[in-house]
Amino acid sequence: VVLLVVFAGLVFGSLIDDIRAKGVLRVGQDAGYMPLYGTDMDGNRIGLEVEILQRMADILGVRLEFVVVNWDGIIPALMAGKFDIIWSGMTITPERALRVNFSDPYLTIGQVIVYNTRKFESEPVFAEIANSQLRIAVQLGTTGDEAARRLFPNAEFLTFDTMDEAAFQVASGRADIMVIDSIYARYIARKYAVLEAGTELLTREDLGVAVKKGDWETLQWINTYINWLKTSGILDELQRKWFVE
Ligand code: ARG
Repeated sequence: VVLLVVFAGLVFGSLIDDIRAKGVLRVGQDAGYMPLYGTDMDGNRIGLEVEILQRMADILGVRLEFVVVNWDGIIPALMAGKFDIIWSGMTITPERALRVNFSDPYLTIGQVIVYNTRKFESEPVFAEIANSQLRIAVQLGTTGDEAARRLFPNAEFLTFDTMDEAAFQVASGRADIMVIDSIYARYIARKYAVLEAGTELLTREDLGVAVKKGDWETLQWINTYINWLKTSGILDELQRKWFVE
């Protein structure tokens, strides 16, 4: 048995070994989730997670590469080997954990609404939303999409591939509210004068890194890295830099 385990270890090296051998860390993300990641005017990836990933690539001594896919197809793309890890604001859920393995959480967020101040003078509260037939914009396949459908069954849903498209619908008045991760909500409310982020948390969610199932060695290394980001103060520093109050 011991020999078999050693043999298997040699033949099926961990992803971390594989990344170092190839000299590149390939990360799956969608178009944008600021302030975690997005693209600046010059086409460079920027954001809190981009900085975390650059640091990780530096420690591993490899180059960092982003593979951009639709959010809705990001888990199948990981499973198909299009990239090595998903580090893109993904909420840890039991359904997703049937298809991927999650790291320890590195951030905690919640779903909130984003509303248009031309439509609502003040934040519409939960009961008010639940009892009216609002048009709610969501990003396809997100936990916001799921939570909104569960909590507001009377609503009409408008579904988009990206967060930015969904937010634009609310800003332009085509949707009444959107339901999305709190950190994005605060960021986008700063960008559009007409948008405001709700303060009422509809859910509480842990964000984690997803890797292919069964690679405990890699998961262990990523957990060590995440724990170090917390204890070194680097994660706090990055939050002060990128997060909007
Ligand atoms: N945290 C939410 C989820 O896991 C939203 C993530 C959307 N992420 C993104 N990269 N657009 O579903």
